[in-house]
Amino acid sequence: MTQIEDASRDHRVDPDSFAGGYFRNAVYRHWDPYEDVPGELLEADRRKLVESDMDEAAFDSLRGTLALFGAGEEAVTEDLAPLAIVLEDVNDQLFISSQLYEEAKHTQFFDRYWREVIDPVAEERGFEVTRPTDQRYFNDDYVALFEKNEAAMERLLTDDTPETRAQAYCHYHLTVESVLAQTGYYGLQASYSPTGPEMLGDAEFVHLEGLIEGITYIRSDEGRHVGFGMQKVRDLIQDGDVDPDVVQTTLQELMGHVAGAVQSDEMTVEAAPLVEYAQEKIARRIEILTEAEAELPPVEELVKIEGADDATAD
Ligand SMILES: [Fe+2]
Ligand SMILES: [Fe+2]
Repeated sequence: MTQIEDASRDHRVDPDSFAGGYFRNAVYRHWDPYEDVPGELLEADRRKLVESDMDEAAFDSLRGTLALFGAGEEAVTEDLAPLAIVLEDVNDQLFISSQLYEEAKHTQFFDRYWREVIDPVAEERGFEVTRPTDQRYFNDDYVALFEKNEAAMERLLTDDTPETRAQAYCHYHLTVESVLAQTGYYGLQASYSPTGPEMLGDAEFVHLEGLIEGITYIRSDEGRHVGFGMQKVRDLIQDGDVDPDVVQTTLQELMGHVAGAVQSDEMTVEAAPLVEYAQEKIARRIEILTEAEAELPPVEELVKIEGADDATAD
């Protein structure tokens, strides 16, 4: 019989550990993508888009942005598993299970939005009906970023070292989830919620409540995911297992792809303020990772979305 006794701990799970606390926060903040974004809200988005005077090019731009998010969520759902295999601590395992489940919910939300809003609007307006997987929506930097992310995660399976772990977190949690996704979601919220920062200038405004409701839940989850990755990289650096230069070089290299990806023709929001927002974010993150006295905010702070309550009110 397999030996399952473990004299190094009394109980299986430590709710007071860092990852145990993150897992508890994930459970507490659970949301149901089928119920918590009501069908009526998506129906209202559909109606507003049908009635708006958005032309086909503007609609395709919105649709392209959603294709990028949908594909991104699908990719991170598929690419997280190697981390679940290499992490030893049971509290880390609990957290990663919740993250995998949440990425799956994010993927489901974008698929649902395409089926219930995007395609029906295209049909009713007489626009071309396109697939969310259409190659036209993905530029070279976007593709390169996700290919590198997949490779960094897969590498853990054959070469699991403190350095490859730091690189995996830098690709997945710090760049794709933090800089690219959080910046993109910020841009979407800015564009389609009445309380978003003004970034669209004179462009026509349509308040898409169903979309904003979904991405508000998603952004909150991402705050927790990014916090987990940040803490892991910070520990590797502060414990002296990984040279901060490795982290800095990896992040700077990937930043070029992020800038290229958000400047995609498909993004409905203006790129310059987004790139600036992304750069500020990365600079602040490097500071938290490398400075011994800097601290990561508590998870409860990380899952709060600025202006989210207002954005989803009305
Ligand atoms: Fe996600
Ligand atoms: Fe995530």
